Parts: sequence; C-alpha cells; structure tokens
Amino acid sequence: MRQALNGKDDLLAAIPSTPAVLQSLLNEINQPPDNVNLIRVAEIIGRDEALAAQCLRMANSALFTRGPALDSLRGAVRTLGISRIRDIAVSCGLLRLAPASVKALDPVVLWQHSLACAIIARKLARSVGFGDPEKAYLAGLLHDIGYILNLVVFPAQTKMAIEKAQREGLFMGDVEYSELGFTHCQSGELLGRRWNLSEDLVEVILCHHNVAAAVSNPALVAIVSLADRLSRASNLGLGYLETPNPLDACEGDWSILAQNCPLAKEMSWSEFVKDADSYLEEIRNLVSAMCKDK
Ligand SMILES: [Fe+2]
Ligand SMILES: [Fe+2]
Repeated sequence: MRQALNGKDDLLAAIPSTPAVLQSLLNEINQPPDNVNLIRVAEIIGRDEALAAQCLRMANSALFTRGPALDSLRGAVRTLGISRIRDIAVSCGLLRLAPASVKALDPVVLWQHSLACAIIARKLARSVGFGDPEKAYLAGLLHDIGYILNLVVFPAQTKMAIEKAQREGLFMGDVEYSELGFTHCQSGELLGRRWNLSEDLVEVILCHHNVAAAVSNPALVAIVSLADRLSRASNLGLGYLETPNPLDACEGDWSILAQNCPLAKEMSWSEFVKDADSYLEEIRNLVSAMCKDK
C-alpha cells in the first residue's frame, strides 16, 4: 500500500495538466503586471460559463465588495482588481480538477477550506504589516493543492486515509504519510513546480505544516500555517474537527512570524483568533450559497 515518492517521474507523469481556460488565465497573469490586460482576463473567464458565474457570485459577496451589485465580468474585474479576480478564477479552476468520483473528500469542502485559509491569511498579513497581503491570499488558496494530486493519482489510498482521519479525528498529514508514504505537501510541491508557481508559493505548499523548514519566505509560510490552523479549528478544515486542536501549539509559528514582521510583536494571536468569528461565518454562508447551484 505504501507509495513512496521516490518514483517521482511516475507521479509527475500522472500530474493533470491544467484545464484550457485555467492555462490561458495563467499565461495571461504570468506576464509583468503592467502587461496584464483586464479585458482579456474577463474574456478568458467568460469562456467558461460556470467559472464566470462563480466569479460574479464571489465578486458580489460582502467579503469582496460593498458596492452596488455587479452584473458584468468586466465590472467585476474592474471593481475587485485584477489580482483578486484572478485568484478567484484560479482557485475555482483548480478545484474543479478534483475528481467527483472520490466521495471521501468533497471538492467543495477543500475549496471552502482553501478560501477560508486565503481570507484569514490576507487579514493576518495586513494585521502584521506583511508586505504583500495578496500573495498571502493566493498562497492560502493554493497551500493544499497536493490533496488534489493525491485524489487524482491515488484515489483509493487517499480515500482510505481521509476516512481514517475523519473517523479518528486525526490530522490528515499524519494519516496520509502512514497510508501513502508521503504527504500532500510533497506531492503539492511537485504539482506547484510542474505548474511553474513562484518559489514562494512552492515553499508554502511544501512547508505549511513545518514552518521552521522555510528559508525563502518564512513570514509567508508562517501566515499560511496559522491561517490553516485557524480554519481547521473553526470547522473550515477538511470536514471534521481534529484532536488535538490545531490551535494548541501555534507559539512556534507566531514567533517566526514576529521575527519577520515586527508588528506581530505588538499584537496577540489569541485576539486575532477571537476577532475571526465574524468573518468565518460569512465564509461559511458564502460557500454554501455558491454550492447550491452545483
Ligand atoms: Fe495542508
Ligand atoms: Fe490546509
């Protein structure tokens, strides 16, 4: 049953290519920011009806905008800003890769977790004065993409690992290591490199459960790790609550964050956690509203 990652070539061969619309989007946004064409981004999103609808619905959520309702993709792109609409589109596109046939992990649950982590990461980044809150948001969205690869390439073993984790309330990373011989962090790293994600993002994907190993951008990894823990402890994890509570041992992550973002020394992680209640409810409502149409 153990599938070691030493046959990396086999795993790489099995990595799904990105869907056509997503690939076009990545091509457009991987250009220097000044060259990214807002109208073209809206056009690309518009080629996929379901994706366009999801983007508009998210754009109209109170989490993203407080203005009048938007009814055009161009309007949504203009109002939200190119980076945010891009991230929404990329996350929706990515999660549609997950096979619906593997019932153990509903892609919607993973999407909800990723979105929660992204929103918390951006809020935390702003609170501690991290220089690029939008990058924190994108890193939060993508941090668990290894689960998608595991579901696609090793559906039976991944299903078994998820069911065991759910049944026993265990951290999924530990269970998948014993069932598969590697974790979503390692497979996610392969996927991130294959898709040419930036080094910062690949490091988040690889190290978000082991922040001390981060060397390229430890603050970003710490932000995503803390956001991930808060999501999992707030019923926005993988569909079950874990024991021990993921918030139990955050001191190490917080001190790495404080070393890199001095504003963190002046605030308290527990206060940040307390304040999260209001918008976590909004995330739950948003995702359940979006999933009604599926
Ligand atoms: Fe993870
Ligand atoms: Fe996660």
